[in-house]
Amino acid sequence: MSQPERQPVTLPRLAEMKAAGEPIVMVTAYDYPSAKVAEEAGVDIVLVGDTAAMVVLGYPGTEPVSMEEMVMLGKAVRRGIQTPLMVGDMPMGSYEASNELAVQSAQRLVKETGCQVVKLEAGGTSVERARAIVRSGIPVMGHVGLTPQTATALGGYKTQGKTAEGAIRLCEDALALQSVGCFAIVFEAIPAAIAEAIAARLEVPTIGIGAGPATAGQVLVFHDLLGITTGRTPKFVKRYANVHEAMARGVGQYVEEVRSQRFPEPDHVYGVEPAELADFRRYLDQESITSRKAWDWEPLS
Ligand code: KIV
Repeated sequence: MSQPERQPVTLPRLAEMKAAGEPIVMVTAYDYPSAKVAEEAGVDIVLVGDTAAMVVLGYPGTEPVSMEEMVMLGKAVRRGIQTPLMVGDMPMGSYEASNELAVQSAQRLVKETGCQVVKLEAGGTSVERARAIVRSGIPVMGHVGLTPQTATALGGYKTQGKTAEGAIRLCEDALALQSVGCFAIVFEAIPAAIAEAIAARLEVPTIGIGAGPATAGQVLVFHDLLGITTGRTPKFVKRYANVHEAMARGVGQYVEEVRSQRFPEPDHVYGVEPAELADFRRYLDQESITSRKAWDWEPLS
């Protein structure tokens, strides 16, 4: 039986989902194949996150990734999705300095990658910048709690809002982002009970990553949930596959088969008509060809 055609996910649809208590599914993607997987799996929101810096570009943190790199990755993602809402993450340095810079950067992401909305991390000047971008006509997703671009100032990659004072700051950040028009807010690494209490005060959908089950939706990093990243992952990551292991096994087997001359097999080679092959061999056997040296090689007339 054919599946009913999915409609593109819009901002009103996300608000509707939150109102109906229907969980919103968001995942990151950074290239064409990951975007296609997200599309096929039926996710609602695809984030071209600046975690790309770490998981696909190999930087030690998210700080170094440039706008050019985010644009290149975003364009590839756009080619792979039709249905989910596409969010472009504003890289560090692309929005903090002024409202003009923030609007220009958001416009660049939308125009060049085809993302429909942008995301920026809370902290410092972010509320003002979010307001400016929303006023320019581009919807903004906020991000509170553990904000990796400013992790150093937060004391490292740590759970946020563990004290009443910290939770109040988080709540104020989230309310401020909502008040300037953010249509949704990511909650990262926040104790579940604090996230639940803050989410209940907000009208906009909240998307949690390490924030417990009470947020309107959940987001995970593609490479973490599929086990493409190796080494330690945060407590909030659930691994649904071990793709790194499968890839390493596959490439290892290929290496082994090439070295032992078991690959390619007859199924992997192209054939040629025997008469054509015989003609070609006759050409190669001509005296004028076999006696020619590499250094006086010129095409035969
Ligand atoms: O950049 C990213 O992938 C993110 C998610 C962790 C929410 O911001």
